[in-house]
Formats: sequence, structure tokens, C-alpha cells
Amino acid sequence: MSNIVIVGAQWGDEGKGKIVDLLSGDIQYVVRFQGGNNAGHTIIVDGKKYVLHLVPSGILHDGKVCLIGNGVVLDPVIFAHELDVLAGQGVDVSPSRLKVSAKTHLIMPYHKALDMAREKAAAEKKIGTTGRGIGPCYEDKAARIGIRAADLADLSLLKAKIATALREKNVLLASCYGVDPLGVEEVFAEIAPLASRLLPYLTDVSSELEAARKAGKKALFEGAQGTHLDVDHGTYPFVTSSNTVAGNTAAGTGFAGSGKDRIIGILKAYTTRVGEGPFPTELHDAVGETLRRNGGEFGATTGRPRRCGWQDIVLLRESVRLNGLTEIALTKLDVLSGLSEIKICVAYEYRGQRTDYPPQEENGLGAVTPVYENMPGWSEPLEQYTSFAQLPEAARAYVRRLEELAGVPITLVSVGPDREQTISR
Ligand code: IMP
Repeated sequence: MSNIVIVGAQWGDEGKGKIVDLLSGDIQYVVRFQGGNNAGHTIIVDGKKYVLHLVPSGILHDGKVCLIGNGVVLDPVIFAHELDVLAGQGVDVSPSRLKVSAKTHLIMPYHKALDMAREKAAAEKKIGTTGRGIGPCYEDKAARIGIRAADLADLSLLKAKIATALREKNVLLASCYGVDPLGVEEVFAEIAPLASRLLPYLTDVSSELEAARKAGKKALFEGAQGTHLDVDHGTYPFVTSSNTVAGNTAAGTGFAGSGKDRIIGILKAYTTRVGEGPFPTELHDAVGETLRRNGGEFGATTGRPRRCGWQDIVLLRESVRLNGLTEIALTKLDVLSGLSEIKICVAYEYRGQRTDYPPQEENGLGAVTPVYENMPGWSEPLEQYTSFAQLPEAARAYVRRLEELAGVPITLVSVGPDREQTISR
């Protein structure tokens, strides 16, 4: 085994940051390969809280190099701000520790304006995006009018590209959405001063990783969002605009890998989702409210309350297959303490039939009825336990049942927010 890939097995917010942080011990490179500042990790190290949106969490460990791959979309304003905040907290964010692919596309002010204007206009049909301009930035990349980090080295090219992009964007903003158009000079004046800030960080991530591999160094690829938000394999159209599955580590960094990676799916002990879209096991009752309260289920990026529900094995099996998971890290098991009964969705009823697979039609997943298996709950808090054997029998049975249904081992169980509150099996 050489490298580690970490992906969310649900709809994001599984607690990936903590596991990345925990497993990066003997890793030299921590790499992001997709998404942008729609992600958000809150990491607590020695009681100190760090909130990261773009910078890989490896930055909190001395001696690690963090890479932002070409598959990421980077908001230069947010990037500069995050550097300032981290530096203010005493974290070394120098270009020797943090590097950005020169091919990374930049989120521009008009991407954010368009994202927000569309969501506002869509009213009840909205996706529930984070409003960070993620989708419009990936659209421009595919439309071949995107601005890449390397373009910051040529300010006249940058200005010309802004003008090209605004020609279409302003029509959309003004005519379709009734929003004030943006001026070329105004956008240029916001972005150009950030060039000197960003340019020292630019590199060829693909070559960096290849050199690291040859030198026998290890990389950890840190996925953002979750499998069911993948633009191809997720609950389309209620998805993000990038491929979140493990296979995108290659395209999103230019590193083909060794083929012998540990691919770890991060799975919350229950399920949450932010934004719109189908969620078969969602709870609209007091149990859902309890999970939200006890789990602190409010978005790290937007502060929105997360929708909460039971574990869904139909979707988990999809995650195992789509990512080629070799193991699962189970998070937030402690949040289930105090529930008398815990349900696991093991199949769906769809159009009068029992099915083990999610329907592929756009509105199919919203029309299924979960088939549940009931398990006894446990009352005691779990935060103080340090080994699997110490956990209450009902908690152990729940973990074993999930593992059995998923078909891959659960190798880590998290029972609290701190790095120490993690049981290795
Ligand atoms: P976008 O990525 O901002 O375009 O949002 C698309 C969908 O993905 C929305 O439902 C968001 O709530 C969801 N989403 C994006 N990033 C995250 C994340 O980091 N965690 C959970 N959901 C996310």
C-alpha cells in the first residue's frame, strides 16, 4: 500500500477533516483534487479550532506539503483570506509547504454573482448550492473560457479573458436575472492585485507528485463533498459540479497513482444532507431534531441546518463500488447514544417492488420507501472509550452490522471531535 485516498461516502460533511488529520502521520503530501471553498472542515487540535475551506488540513502538521490540484476551483480572494487567518493562528503557509497547480481554474466575481442569481430565481426548484460560484466556474472550464491560476502571470491576458467572459455573463446577469452587470475594470481591479500573492504558490502538481513517488514519499488525497454529490454518479441534478469519487484523483491532479492505494470512505453513523434533493431516510421528527442538535449538524461553510436521517445501505453499497473502497472510517457514533432504537435502511420499495439499487431516473430516488431493519440503541455516552471492546454491546453490534452490509471493514470508529477520540480496529 502506498497512497491513501479519502472520500465522503454520503452527501458530504461526514467528518473527513478529522480522519485526514489523523491519518496524515506518516504522509508527506496532502492533496486536494476537486471542489473548492464549498467544502469546509472544522478541525480541533489540542483544543484549538481551525476552519479550513480550501487549504488541505495537512497544513496543521509540521513537515507536510499541501497541494491543490488542477481539479479544484480556487477563489483567489478566499485563498488569500485563508492564508491570512492561518498565518494569524501561527500556521506556516509559506509556498514551500503549500502549492497550487498552475492549471487550477479561478472562481471569479461573476461566477459567484451568477450562482446566487440563479438560485434566487429558481425559488422552489433551487439546488441549494453554497453560493460560492462553484458550478459557474466549472461551466467556464468546460466551455473553454475559464481563467486559470497561470493566467495571473500575464495581466493583459487576464483582462482580455475577463472581458470575454463578461460579454456572456452580463447578458445572463442583467437580462435573465435582473442583476447589475459587472464591469471589466471592476473585476480586474479585484483580482489583479492578488496575482503577486498567488504566483509564488503555483507549481506543476503532476510532476511534484511523480517526483514524490520516485522518492518513496506518500500522498493522501483529500476528497471534498461526498459520493452522492458527484456530478455524474450523484443524485443529479442535486449535486455539486465536480467528480467527487476516488477515480478523480488521477484527472484532478495529473497523477496516475500506483493502483495500490488504500481508499477510505468516511461514513457518518447516520446520514445528513445540506441543500435540496432526495433523501430517502430523512427524519422529520424528534429523532431527526435530536441528531441535528447532538451532532451539531449545521454547515461549516454556510451555517445552514443539515437534514438528518438514518443510515442508508443502498447508497452505501453504491459508494463502495463507485469508489472501490477498501475500508470505511465510521464517524460520530457517539451522537447515537441515548436513542432507544436505531434503524438501518437495507433496501427500497420502488414501484411496488423491493430493490437493492437506487433508481436511475431523475425523480426515482425521491419516490422510494426505505425498508428498515431495527437495532437496539444504547444509553451511555461513548466519548471516553478508547477501544472497541469497551463500547456497549449494542454499539458494537451496530458497527458490525454496517460492516457486514457494506461488505468492507470498518477500520476506524470516531466517538468524539478530538483526534484522541478515535478507536482503531
Ligand atoms: P455547490 O457545490 O455549491 O454548487 O452546491 C451543490 C450542492 O452540493 C448543494 O446541495 C450543496 O449543499 C452541496 N455541497 C457542496 N459542498 C458541500 C460540502 O462540502 N458538504 C456538503 N454539501 C455540500
